[in-house]
Amino acid sequence: MIKVAPSLLAADYMRLGEEIRRVAEAGADYLHFDVMDGSFVPNISFGPELLRQAAACGLPVDAHLMIVNPEKYIDAFAKAGAEIITVHAEAATHLHRCLQQIRAAGCLAGVALNPATSPDCLRYVMGDFDLALVMTVNPGYGGQRLIPACIRKVGEVRSMLWEAGCDAIVEVDGGVNLATAPRLVEAGADMLVAGSALYGAEDAQSFIEALKGAEEQF
Ligand code: DX5
Ligand code: ZN
Repeated sequence: MIKVAPSLLAADYMRLGEEIRRVAEAGADYLHFDVMDGSFVPNISFGPELLRQAAACGLPVDAHLMIVNPEKYIDAFAKAGAEIITVHAEAATHLHRCLQQIRAAGCLAGVALNPATSPDCLRYVMGDFDLALVMTVNPGYGGQRLIPACIRKVGEVRSMLWEAGCDAIVEVDGGVNLATAPRLVEAGADMLVAGSALYGAEDAQSFIEALKGAEEQF
């Protein structure tokens, strides 16, 4: 079954608790929590204290760290209650060590790849991560259009994991909507992040059901 993770970046910030509970009741599996530092990406977003409060709203938190020197903050986000912590391969100078640090902190470890990053780097940390996050937009902002070439990369990552006998899941983030989801799932996505399309949908529950039903559309 496809998992759906609404991105809090697209929620109404004046009503965050309500916005989290709304998607939880609508069938979301995780809350996708985008952390941006104004350095790795141009935008600035949320920190560990907000994550701690968000985690109390009932969904397991999937923390996507778009920050330089992620090793400095992994423990803080773990302590705040994240279930998954994902670091960018481009931002982690010592990716292998970061992944060990995430697991040692009791979380599931994820590796994110920017659109122009080759999935090859995953080969050398195979077995050290639980999730590969394929970015289908350049990270930093919600509401962008999916970059079509990244769909092929979802398939490449999926095959690489199968060939290695690795049971890590493939998460896709950026430009996910009802039109792109079936292609992403067909390519091998297990978990879909959706921000603007999901929070902008009239009925979150039927939107999430449609994303989960993307498997049947090909
Ligand atoms: C982008 C973030 C995404 C973003 C997705 O840098 O990592 O999680 O919120 O937003 P949409 O679904 O609107 O592309
Ligand atoms: Zn994200």
